[in-house]
Amino acid sequence: MTNEWNKIKLSDYENHMSEPNVLQLQTLNRITQKQIIDYNPLSLVFLGVAGGNGLEYCKDIGQVFAIDINKNFLDTCIKRFPYTNIEYIHKDLNTDELNLKNIDLVVANLVFEYLNEEIVIPKISKILKSGGILSIVFQIDNNNSFVSKTKYSDKLACLDNIHHTVKENYLQNILEENNFTKVSEENYPLPNNKLLKRIDYKLR
Ligand SMILES: C[S@@+](CC[C@H](N)C(=O)[O-])C[C@H]1O[C@@H](n2cnc3c(N)ncnc32)[C@H](O)[C@@H]1O
Repeated sequence: MTNEWNKIKLSDYENHMSEPNVLQLQTLNRITQKQIIDYNPLSLVFLGVAGGNGLEYCKDIGQVFAIDINKNFLDTCIKRFPYTNIEYIHKDLNTDELNLKNIDLVVANLVFEYLNEEIVIPKISKILKSGGILSIVFQIDNNNSFVSKTKYSDKLACLDNIHHTVKENYLQNILEENNFTKVSEENYPLPNNKLLKRIDYKLR
């Protein structure tokens, strides 16, 4: 699969994301724990699972599907979290079908920046059960650069070619067209005046 994410080393990504002036790995871990506590799902799908941030909270969930485009990331996840209830799936969310159904909760943390909303949201609506939840986290830059400067950020520069800022109104319109209703919203402040925004939507 040709994608800039396949050029990224997991250690560069995780070292960058956990630097004190970025703090996103730690904040996303906290958010993931809360997403699971809030909905106590029997079945859960992670879109763009990267190195498995938050999978430690999944031990007691019936079925977990962790999807990513980067096979090396998934291989590391398998070593870190060899739980029998987690299936690791190598897919490009923009082009591949998901082949899942009756899911309680879909978590999409910091991945819509790399996805085509018009293509991926209808796919998510097909795999969720009625009343199921899609919980999305995206970054608000507040006029700062998308990737903060760290000693690792040059290694992530190629992602500039494929990333876009998530536009909340645009996202919301597509979600409503696909039978989703907004149920909650939370903001998580970050260093550098940035913000992670979590919005949860229920499928009607
Ligand atoms: C910023 S990271 C996600 C962080 C992670 N969800 C967390 O909570 O720490 C984005 C992830 O999405 C994956 N990704 C990007 N585009 C993708 C695509 N088209 N299909 C599947 N995975 C994709 C990348 O490989 C990467 O692991």
